[in-house]
Amino acid sequence: MSLRLIANWKLNGSIKFIKSWSQLFLENFNGDNFNSIGIAPSSLHFSLTKDLLIEHGINIGVQSIDGEQFGARTGEISASMVKDLGGVFSIIGHSERRVLFQESVESISRKLAQANMNDIVPILCIGESFEENKANITQDVLEGQINDALKDHKDLSSLIIAYEPIWAIGTGKTPNPKDINSVHEMIKDVVQSRFPKTELESVIYGGSVNKSNALELFEQKDIDGALIGGASLDGKDFALIANIFNKLKV
Ligand code: 13P
Repeated sequence: MSLRLIANWKLNGSIKFIKSWSQLFLENFNGDNFNSIGIAPSSLHFSLTKDLLIEHGINIGVQSIDGEQFGARTGEISASMVKDLGGVFSIIGHSERRVLFQESVESISRKLAQANMNDIVPILCIGESFEENKANITQDVLEGQINDALKDHKDLSSLIIAYEPIWAIGTGKTPNPKDINSVHEMIKDVVQSRFPKTELESVIYGGSVNKSNALELFEQKDIDGALIGGASLDGKDFALIANIFNKLKV
């Protein structure tokens, strides 16, 4: 099975944390589908995480890449560097990057192109704000984000879309699982009808996923997996979520 359950560690981690996380995860995970799991540590911790987990078949990726291959771009990392070091995927266009780092639509599009050129699976994040949700314009917002990201390259060889409502990230609030399922169906329809040559592998959900709500989320047919922040920082909790995923999706 392809990549479906991804830990986004954001700005967290240390040598001690990663060693203890790996041990806890491996002690508590009871499946053998390591290849559906991905970890996105900080770029500094990429190699240590890989050294501890890659032998089990877990995929290691990054939280962001630059939109260029190389050059005078202090502080950035490129898709080709990720590939060179054995990385498999990159999160692209996370709402925290769009909001806190003013990541533009054009730069997200360039990042997607770089990922595609370097055989890195892009995890494209889309999601509406609380106000947009309340105004009932979620569908329009998401369609706009998909169009903006994909319009300049219509035949991506792989793509995962993560639906992350901004108001659900780190808040303990999640939309009703059935509503998430309908949104995922809509995302699949939009990509398949407008970008039929793009290989959409899955649509995963992110926003306050934890070991208590994972079951009802994964019961939904079109929720193919999850992108997890807070609850992924505990190796045991992430393993418990992965065990639930195994029961329902593998
Ligand atoms: P939380 O799981 O902490 O809500 O974060 C979700 C997220 O932003 C994953 O990318």
